[in-house]
Amino acid sequence: MRGKFITLEGGEGCGKSTQAKLLCEYLQAKGIETVLTKEPGGTEEGAVLRRLLVTGDKDKFDAVTECLLYYADRRQHLSKLVWPALEQGKWVISDRYADSTEAYQYYGYDKRIDYATLQNMYKIVAGEFKPDLTLILDMPPEVGMRRSFAKAADMATQELRFESRQIDFHHNLRRGFLEIAKREPQRCAVVNADTTIEILQQNIRQIIQERLGV
Ligand SMILES: Nc1ncnc2c1ncn2[C@@H]1O[C@H](COP(=O)(O)OP(=O)(O)OP(=O)(O)O)[C@@H](O)[C@H]1O
Ligand SMILES: [Mg+2]
Repeated sequence: MRGKFITLEGGEGCGKSTQAKLLCEYLQAKGIETVLTKEPGGTEEGAVLRRLLVTGDKDKFDAVTECLLYYADRRQHLSKLVWPALEQGKWVISDRYADSTEAYQYYGYDKRIDYATLQNMYKIVAGEFKPDLTLILDMPPEVGMRRSFAKAADMATQELRFESRQIDFHHNLRRGFLEIAKREPQRCAVVNADTTIEILQQNIRQIIQERLGV
């Protein structure tokens, strides 16, 4: 049987990577073979694109160029990793997927790319394929930014291209994710991420149980 595709979405520092790892461990403990991956950069080739996308000057790309790079990464990720794993019956958890492109490149930047253009890119790359479940981790952007900067100071990370944007950008992002969830309530579940790691994971597991039956 084909596996399930679960995506985690949300703004900077909301706990996606932390929760994706815990969810992966939970599913594996239940005997479900689960692959944990991410966008951008889920494949070796995508890692090169990721470096281009998440480092450097915040205004370095033309809007369409930037979306095409995300979608090139996505196509490689789907065709080389996600689809084959699902075919083999494995479950796949992706730390970010297409909703992040829509939230960042469309809502975050105040709609500077045409919405239909973005939708067309999705169709070209993924066709009718969609996640079985998308968890949208929601919290005030100020909280996530504080966490992100603390983490960056710890790790000397250079992946701060989006963190360096004004707070308005992050409020637009949050509104964008909530808008997407409202439009596709069957696929998306919004979870309050402004809580402890343990409580958030508990709530996520409950949603997995309700929606996917495990
Ligand atoms: N519920 C929580 N409460 C407090 N701190 C947390 C919580 N969840 C994660 N953190 C910490 O906040 C930081 C950001 O968490 P994490 O990397 O999981 O977020 P993220 O959404 O993946 O961030 P990014 O958008 O930068 O990839 C990490 O240092 C993590 O340990
Ligand atoms: Mg992360």
